[in-house]
Amino acid sequence: LNYWRKRRSFLDPDNPIMNRRRLSQACRDRLVRTPTIIAMAGLPARGKTYISRKLARYLQWIGIKTKVFNVGEYRRAVKSHADKNFFDPDNAEAMAVLNQCAQKALEDACNYLADEGEVAIFDATNITRERRRAIHDFCTQTYCFRVFFVESICDSSEIIEANIKEVKLKSPDYKDVAQEEAVADFLLRIEQYEKRYEPIDDKTDENLFSFIKIFNCGERFLVHKIGGHIQSRVVYFLMNIHVTPRTIYLTRHGESELNVQQRIGGDPPLSINGKAYADALANYVAHENIPDLIVWTSQMQRTIQSAAKINAPKEQWKALNEINAGICEGLTYVEIATRYPEEFSARDQAKYHYRYPGGESYQDLVARLEPVIMELERAENVLVVCHQAVARCILAYFLNKDADDLPYTKVPLHTVIKLTPMAYGCLMECIPLGAEAVNTHREKPKNCRPDRTVSEALNEFLEEPIDTNKVRTKSEIVYKSGGTKIETIDIDGNRVSDYATESDTGFM
Ligand code: F6P
Repeated sequence: LNYWRKRRSFLDPDNPIMNRRRLSQACRDRLVRTPTIIAMAGLPARGKTYISRKLARYLQWIGIKTKVFNVGEYRRAVKSHADKNFFDPDNAEAMAVLNQCAQKALEDACNYLADEGEVAIFDATNITRERRRAIHDFCTQTYCFRVFFVESICDSSEIIEANIKEVKLKSPDYKDVAQEEAVADFLLRIEQYEKRYEPIDDKTDENLFSFIKIFNCGERFLVHKIGGHIQSRVVYFLMNIHVTPRTIYLTRHGESELNVQQRIGGDPPLSINGKAYADALANYVAHENIPDLIVWTSQMQRTIQSAAKINAPKEQWKALNEINAGICEGLTYVEIATRYPEEFSARDQAKYHYRYPGGESYQDLVARLEPVIMELERAENVLVVCHQAVARCILAYFLNKDADDLPYTKVPLHTVIKLTPMAYGCLMECIPLGAEAVNTHREKPKNCRPDRTVSEALNEFLEEPIDTNKVRTKSEIVYKSGGTKIETIDIDGNRVSDYATESDTGFM
């Protein structure tokens, strides 16, 4: 990877022959993470932008630096409104503008890969063989990248019209134009493209390319010459997504006995409040009347108990279990800060990447959750009953949150989050179900410096920070977040011992 990071300095785009000598095709094909251009192909209104954005979101989520370069946006920057006549292949002036925009977008995509990116998605129609050949040669010979074509083919007039109405009419091209007139204009625009359209054909020299052809939104696929790890992940993802409308319901378990004590992890049962939430959740689901609902829980008793009264088929996933906090399981944040100050500080400095000794990081959790996301993509209406860290990872996927924000996303207890995938994103609604619960959210500290003292660390989330140098027999801790009073620890110099007994917590 470092090799690729530095490549910018020695790859000279003006000297492709020299570049090819420096990095042979064979060498390039052996490198696992050779940067990849994913070039879309297909007529307008075939879901290319939908696929591009969704794919980018998925690749970003699994940690692959990805960006979409949409030629339509480049065109709108120079010509904000365009009707069907602009797309007439006989309109030489307009064609020149479109070609320039496409070339600029492609160059920007290549520059992004040369700088820092791993995947650039070139979202354009790329409908002629000549154009695709030019893209292939430019990206592989000038820049030594891999190229993967994704062609979307659709002959269902219903799907095409639905796509036009859902996304195209919102484009600035049709600002202040009546719906019927806009649909008619867009259908004529498609006809202009059809005059030149040559689908990818493996009977021609395109036989050498790597590509996937997607027919009617995933009814059928043709996959050809997959080159490398990234392309196989892309194909796997594209073969699992669908466009059927549905809703994903996400909730944490009801408040647990360890939540009440502000302890993390473990496998505790629900508290009294938590049991009230389990009732409220079952009522909510019954009233929503969700067709063919499936409920997924983790294998921990707090999620199983939370879903127990819901009248729907249930499945348990080990992959949905809460983040494993290793040596910190069962401790409060105060106890972690005082017993393991270096660990506590390291987590605050890089929460997404920090791995608990003997446990997991958020990054590990994302990898563990990938099969769950893939099944969520395949599924229709699902209710996922999970945990704070797990819910953050799932939300980050649907809401496109980056690795810095992900571990600090607020996911309160006793709240249902309704996620409805839309054309280019996801609608999120939060429905608190009334049952009382403690707050388990800890804000990102303002002071994350490595030289931070334990008192400074505690100061950020306790009303009255405890003095770790003072010998005390018992302390009452008040959290800034929820004003929760807990009598759990005493401090003997720097040593912390717990008052809670095994029977109190069911965990220690
Ligand atoms: O506090 C509840 C909990 O689910 C713990 O079990 C888990 O360790 C924690 O939340 C994850 O949140 P954070 O990453 O903010 O510590």
